[in-house]
Amino acid sequence: MAMGKATLSLLVHLHAALLFLPAEPAAVYDVVARYGARGDGASDSTAPFLRAWADACRSPRRHATVRVPPGNYLLAQPATFLGPCAAAAVTFSLDANATLLAPPRYAWESPTGRWITFESVVGLTFTGGTLDGRGAALWQCKGTQPRGHCPTGASSLTISNSREVVVEGVRSVNSGLFHFVVLQSSGVTVRRVRVDAPGDSPNTDGIHVHKSRDVAVYDADVRTGDDCVSVGPGNSNLWIERVSCGPGHGISIGSLGKQQGMAVEAVENVTVKTTWFTNTTNGLRIKTWVSSKRGYVRGVTFSDSTMSGVGNPIIIDQHYCPDGGCSAGAGDRRSTAPRSSGIKISEVEYVNVRGSSATPVAVSFDCSRSNPCSGIRLRDVRFTYQKSLEVEKATASCRNAQGTASGLVVPPSCL
Ligand SMILES: *[C@@H]1O[C@H](CO)[C@@H](O)[C@H](O)[C@H]1NC(C)=O
Ligand SMILES: *[C@@H]1O[C@H](CO)[C@@H](O)[C@H](O)[C@H]1NC(C)=O
Ligand SMILES: *[C@@H]1O[C@H](CO)[C@@H](O)[C@H](O)[C@H]1NC(C)=O
Repeated sequence: MAMGKATLSLLVHLHAALLFLPAEPAAVYDVVARYGARGDGASDSTAPFLRAWADACRSPRRHATVRVPPGNYLLAQPATFLGPCAAAAVTFSLDANATLLAPPRYAWESPTGRWITFESVVGLTFTGGTLDGRGAALWQCKGTQPRGHCPTGASSLTISNSREVVVEGVRSVNSGLFHFVVLQSSGVTVRRVRVDAPGDSPNTDGIHVHKSRDVAVYDADVRTGDDCVSVGPGNSNLWIERVSCGPGHGISIGSLGKQQGMAVEAVENVTVKTTWFTNTTNGLRIKTWVSSKRGYVRGVTFSDSTMSGVGNPIIIDQHYCPDGGCSAGAGDRRSTAPRSSGIKISEVEYVNVRGSSATPVAVSFDCSRSNPCSGIRLRDVRFTYQKSLEVEKATASCRNAQGTASGLVVPPSCL
């Protein structure tokens, strides 16, 4: 590379100067002081937030911070914080006492299915504060009106098409739909998050990961009305560690095979380690729609899990068809000729998983007739059936499943 002598000497001087300067502080963009956001719970702060983001994102500094001081900020519009940014790292920092509020009936109006979105950002940290999706009106609609009558709702925080993202120390309450979503992204860490929604709030998954790779979730405390963590199609290399779940529907891989548009639906290399489930409908679950076409789930390790009062502690369900909502003609469990899932499940390991089941069948592998499960491994898996005050023996049930068991396995393996 040809570099002029003057340029080189300038670079040397710059470098020398940097060595003697303290580290360059981050440029700070305060949504209240500089952009006029009002934490009064009533004024719409969407525009000031978007302006603060735009300035931080194009900051000439290496590191820019959007600061949200204590207060309740109404974000009445869908807020999309768009990259790519000039700054190498942008921090979106909410004070511990800052709450972002969705409009109370927001879900009725959401055109995108999202409330707060970070789109196409590389190098983002989102920290602190509370997101309040105020989903109650929507849940009530879904609970009382016929299917299809109510809007879908809006997920609270979505990280989309992004890389090198950390979401840390955030609490999400009462989302109208999913609380946290990681979509088509890589290198995302979600840690020290808390999710709170009622156990009967529909579709309020805690953390949903979709078409992403290299995603880690640590230290999540989830109480909600649907899956605590759900792993959708197109994911690989996920690490989920220290999650407590309940109420909720457990930690799920799937459901896969619903979207007929996706050619092959695959999930590969998932570790779920050190989890606690209390009174959840499921524990560790893999589910595929009964009529699903092609795909696979392989390389999954579930280890060190403790459960109490869990409906289906260990379950693979390849005949998933809730509410009979399968495509026309598809068989459900009761049909005489059930269809068979085209999704192959293999190399799934359960190690040191124990506790009490709220139903007699603690371990259920209900696999596809045309694509039987293979390489299922149980090691040190122990369950009792807690029937109100009595402790009884639990059972295991296998259909089209092949694998091995080692260590102490109770109920005895049916593989
Ligand atoms: C948050 O607000 C509460 C009550 O107003 C106060 O006691 C607490 O110290 C605040 N916490 C922080 C981190 O500012
Ligand atoms: C899954 O893990 C294996 C072994 O570490 C690796 O060879 C493979 O490439 C991974 N799969 C994906 C899709 O990254
Ligand atoms: C779980 O359910 C049992 C039995 O219904 C109840 O006694 C217990 O309080 C529940 N635990 C939690 C944390 O809700």
